[in-house]
Amino acid sequence: MVQDREQWSSTLGFILASIGSAVGIGNVWRFPYIVGANGGGAFLVPYLISVLLFGIPLMMLELSIGRSTGKSVVSAFRSIQQRFAFAGLIIVAIVSLILGYYLVITGWVLAYALSFLFGQPMAFDAFTDSYLPLIFFLLSGLAVFVTVRSGVRKGIERASRYLIPVLIAILLFLVVFSLTQPGAAEGLEFYLSPDFSRLTDPGVWIAAFGQAFFSLSVGMGILLTFGSYLRGESLFRSSATIAVADILIAALAGLMIFPLVFASGLDPAAGVNLAFVTLPSAFAQIRFGMVLGALFFLMLFAAAITSAVSMLEVPVAALMDSYDYPRRRATLLVFAAIMLFGLPSALSYTALGLSVFGLPFLDLADYVFGTIGLIAAALIISIVGGWFMSPARICAEIGGCGWRQSAYMALIRYGVPAVLLITLAGNILLSAG
Ligand code: PHE
Repeated sequence: MVQDREQWSSTLGFILASIGSAVGIGNVWRFPYIVGANGGGAFLVPYLISVLLFGIPLMMLELSIGRSTGKSVVSAFRSIQQRFAFAGLIIVAIVSLILGYYLVITGWVLAYALSFLFGQPMAFDAFTDSYLPLIFFLLSGLAVFVTVRSGVRKGIERASRYLIPVLIAILLFLVVFSLTQPGAAEGLEFYLSPDFSRLTDPGVWIAAFGQAFFSLSVGMGILLTFGSYLRGESLFRSSATIAVADILIAALAGLMIFPLVFASGLDPAAGVNLAFVTLPSAFAQIRFGMVLGALFFLMLFAAAITSAVSMLEVPVAALMDSYDYPRRRATLLVFAAIMLFGLPSALSYTALGLSVFGLPFLDLADYVFGTIGLIAAALIISIVGGWFMSPARICAEIGGCGWRQSAYMALIRYGVPAVLLITLAGNILLSAG
């Protein structure tokens, strides 16, 4: 029943929880590098266009579906049309599979935070060869489990209320420190100096589309679920606020990372290597490196945990809505399943070295679920929402039916699916070629 459904305590609580979802390890280890490698400052053109034209409209669509049905993804889709329940289930499965490996990385982050805190930073290979990744995978999973089990307000919302301000404070501190390092100018040059000629390269645009969807946590039913706990706010204003915060935090992360990397004479990298190899060796070289490293990984942990919490809520809410399970039971069941899904990824970098086609299982999961699966999920949402939910209902959610809403519907029906298909094809071609 819509009446006794839990609600956010305030607009701010909802916005913070959504920022918590959007701001994840992707902001720190993916965005800055993609900018540096795809035209520097010029990359902001395709990126901002993607966020504005495709990211925010899709966020608004998810929130509209969630708020107007008052349900999470499977039940919401079922209420649009019975046969779409299965499509909802696919989305739930994709999110759960992503969460499985995301928690493995979250565990690494936690382990690194503690190791810097105790002044004993670990080498990545030695760390992953041990049994420690498994323990920290479990610990991160437990932290997320306990948070989601505590409910929308007392768990999800509260976690972000505390962690997002802490994250921003640490980030600002690290940016100031980093910009005063000797190599700062060189780092900023790599990061920002614009190369507009790159904008004719379709690969740059595909990177921008993909990063925009990934970074906003859109297209996975998270915002849809969050929307079902939401009352009367303007969906455009909320979505825009979340997007701006996400972009600013990602941009700031670049301002702290590249000066540090170049100050230590290292090469910039993305992903696992940046966070667990390059930056730790930068921290090892500078004054106060242990403290800075600890702060950096604590910040990354705050970012990761609030994203993981938002992912876990998707299958949990789906179980609660579909089978009337109490939150505690739903959370426990999903937690057990996620730990199983994540196990192969957790083992993939250890001495066991679980890999498929020569690729560590975690990397495979990131590609299949986190890249291809994510785009497919977004495509499902844009088609089910854009084509099968009545436009009148969407209008009611986004504030009336004028020309702006007609333009919006055209974007959702044609623009967003087209861009998602291009991104999907582009990713498959790029990885094949
Ligand atoms: N947006 C998160 C990040 O940038 C990742 C994420 C993707 C979280 C999809 C939830 C869902 O790291």
